[in-house]
Amino acid sequence: MLTIPAFRIARAGLCLLISPAFCTFSNAQVDFNRQVRPILAEYCFQCHGPDAEKRSADLRLDVEVEAKKSAIVAMAEDSELILRIQSTDSETVMPPTSTGKTLSVVQKEILRQWVQEGAKYSSHWAFQSIADSESLLNSLPAPEAAATPIDRFLLHKLQEAGLHYSKPVSRARFIRRATFDLTGLPPTWAEVEAFESDVAKGSDERLIDRLMESPRYGERWGRHWLDIARYADTHGGAAIGFTTFPFSFTYRDYVINAFNHDLPVDRFLLEQIAADQLELPENDPSLAALGFLTVGMQFRNSNDTIDDQIDVITRGLMGLTVTCARCHDHKFDPIPTADYYALYASIAPSKAPSQLPAIGAVSDENAHMQYEREFSELKLKYQQFALEQNEVLRNRLRMQVGLYLAEIAKGVGEQDLSTQFLSYRTDDVRPLVFNRWRTVTVHGSSRMHGADLPFRLASTASQSHW
Ligand code: HEC
Ligand code: HEC
Repeated sequence: MLTIPAFRIARAGLCLLISPAFCTFSNAQVDFNRQVRPILAEYCFQCHGPDAEKRSADLRLDVEVEAKKSAIVAMAEDSELILRIQSTDSETVMPPTSTGKTLSVVQKEILRQWVQEGAKYSSHWAFQSIADSESLLNSLPAPEAAATPIDRFLLHKLQEAGLHYSKPVSRARFIRRATFDLTGLPPTWAEVEAFESDVAKGSDERLIDRLMESPRYGERWGRHWLDIARYADTHGGAAIGFTTFPFSFTYRDYVINAFNHDLPVDRFLLEQIAADQLELPENDPSLAALGFLTVGMQFRNSNDTIDDQIDVITRGLMGLTVTCARCHDHKFDPIPTADYYALYASIAPSKAPSQLPAIGAVSDENAHMQYEREFSELKLKYQQFALEQNEVLRNRLRMQVGLYLAEIAKGVGEQDLSTQFLSYRTDDVRPLVFNRWRTVTVHGSSRMHGADLPFRLASTASQSHW
């Protein structure tokens, strides 16, 4: 009698049930990072992932050796993992019914095929070292149609999919496509005509060189990096109406320039994360690179600002949501809270200066001098205003001592200062002032003034003394 392995029947049955696309590709090897990791991350890592605090059954499915201790036996149809995802018993099925999630037929089949093929793991691309392009290239066949090294990569992928290059397009169309691609703009009529009549050898290369030398090239391609850097000319979400982001354009221009001058990518990244540590001259235009860290969302507490900076570095460069580990070990990726706070500690000592450096050469000496003059006048006015207001506030607070002590007597706890930018009515208790009084009266303070002493004694006296 002819026996057909059970899994083949299952797959044949599946093809009737599910999309033809799956059937077409089901013979290719399952790709762990593209197909398996997303399923495990979405349905399993929450309880069998990197977060030790929330791990169930002492089982990690994100680490190959751990998973293969019990749950997965490579190539075994009766691996515990397979039995669990295929179980029809609500007590044993994974993910547990309590999660409200169920694996689809296709997802179960992907996991099954993966185990069948040996359950191979590979690490997230962000943790793999960058492949040496030379040896990568040499591993590819060198077909005759390959005019440039880039063609070898293209042809390799095309051949895999059974495709070929399309026929070359007309010269007019070629210049139009190339100009849009490299500068984001259409070519002028004169440029089209010039290109059409330039029939000498190397005209395509000359066209590409011309386009890449255009300042429009950096504007077009820098834009993509500015998206990653969550660049903005304005800041949304500001509570009291400051909407423009002064000088953020200096960062934008830095990025455009970097593209136009073909700055090596390692230098480009280094400057954006640490230009202040590179011992550059004090008006060096590269200092504007630090806008990468500072043009983000604006917060009134430094923890959120640092969080935003960790986020732009890690999500921007590694494609990882590291900031999830601010509150708990990452549920899906191997990032413990200890790593988050190590990053935090390396960023925390850096402060954005309240007055930004004037960068680059001064183009108009007179305008610059006038700016300096007006700036110092305004600074003086500001200082005087602050002094006056300070005096007004001090006088008022002196008259309100009773108000604060009464609050403390009621046992009101320490106040949250994150909203202290809000304005208060004259007779409101101000959190910052309240906390100071509280420090002095409840805990005592080494910097206590003589005048505080009676309050301190009064507050520690027992009720019977009154
Ligand atoms: C909400 C938490 C949760 C999720 C999500 C979850 N599990 Fe579990 N898993 C458990 C718990 C709790 C146990 C232990 C109780 C049991 O055996 O049923 C367990 C047990 C297991 C076991 C048996 C371990 C052993 O040593 O016997 C396997 C295998 C397993 N899970 C696989 C998975 C897979 C695969 C997924 C995702 C498709 C998944 N689990 C999703 C909570 C979860
Ligand atoms: C501001 C704090 C905070 C941040 C940031 C945060 N979480 Fe959480 N998250 C919690 C708390 C608190 C819990 C409940 C306790 C726990 O499961 O550790 C939780 C629970 C979870 C759970 C459910 C776990 C379970 O066992 O039910 C998942 C999944 C999760 N977080 C994923 C994420 C992801 C992904 C990110 C980043 C995109 C993230 N969290 C960022 C605070 C946070």
